[in-house]
Amino acid sequence: MPGGGVAWRPKVFVARLIPDDGIRPVVEACDARVWEDELPPPRAELLRAIEGCDGVLTLLTDRVDDEFLDRAGPQLKVVSNFAVGFDNIDVPACTRRGIPVGNTPGVLTETTADLAWALLMAAARRLAEGDRYVRVGRWKTWGPMLLLGPDVHGSTLGIVGFGRIGQALARRAVGFGMTVLYHDVARADPVVEATYGATFVPLQDLLARSDFVSLHVNLTPETRHLMNADRLAWMKPSAVLVNTSRGPVVDQRALYEALRDGVIFAAALDVTDPEPIPTDEPLLTLDNCLVVPHIASASRATRGKMAAMAAANLLAGVRGERLPTPVNPEVYTGR
Ligand code: DGY
Repeated sequence: MPGGGVAWRPKVFVARLIPDDGIRPVVEACDARVWEDELPPPRAELLRAIEGCDGVLTLLTDRVDDEFLDRAGPQLKVVSNFAVGFDNIDVPACTRRGIPVGNTPGVLTETTADLAWALLMAAARRLAEGDRYVRVGRWKTWGPMLLLGPDVHGSTLGIVGFGRIGQALARRAVGFGMTVLYHDVARADPVVEATYGATFVPLQDLLARSDFVSLHVNLTPETRHLMNADRLAWMKPSAVLVNTSRGPVVDQRALYEALRDGVIFAAALDVTDPEPIPTDEPLLTLDNCLVVPHIASASRATRGKMAAMAAANLLAGVRGERLPTPVNPEVYTGR
């Protein structure tokens, strides 16, 4: 206890202002610096800010790699990511150094599935396009051929990546009388399949048979550009692609060409490559492409829960306790 009886407070850096459910416990327990700008800390600032920290709370906009870990120093005990995804983090590099990495699984499942569902509906029924049509004064009369799109109810939904969020989307599809197909690296439990009437099929079948294809895979070297020109061509010309996973899962140039040439009907994206998407990106010139700024988990309640969970991981880590939700639990074996 340095400083004559003053309790030691771990030094932490919080890379953005997150909801109070996360900030309050961290500030109470730690010598905390919070990056309050709207934009993420520039790399040089980030590396300066984490020097000598016991714990760091990162966002998906912060790259955690060997350089980051070297600059932080050997006392670093935890990296807590404010997201369920952790493709911004070199997890093996953290594991090699015995540093647990935390994420926020579970709490954003339903909110993310809500947004995937909203995108699916919006792209099918051409909501963004309809709104633009009204605002520029093009609405002259009721039109029997105006802004026609596919039905959602009774159609076939193909879910690529049948984890928590994929299954939550299937739950919504059941209410719309949809046929649910899924593809993943492994088959789901038969009880889960039975619950949603979901059928496991090879990816090519899924793409060929689905009216809507929704992506729910992690970004890995295997899933980068999973949806390339060939696979987009396997989809029906009437089909809609929804992506709430990670931007690089889709080859954006190939998607632009597929949408422009009528290879598929429409796409709705919560995630792009890069983020933010440049305003001169060709996709943004297309009426059949709807893009929103990575907001799938953006409900007040869910962001509060993510903040509390990220704080709990951070605090457990700086205290040398097991993280509630570690992504690399192997750091604990042999301890
Ligand atoms: C995540 O958590 O990985 C989302 O992309 C942001 O909520």
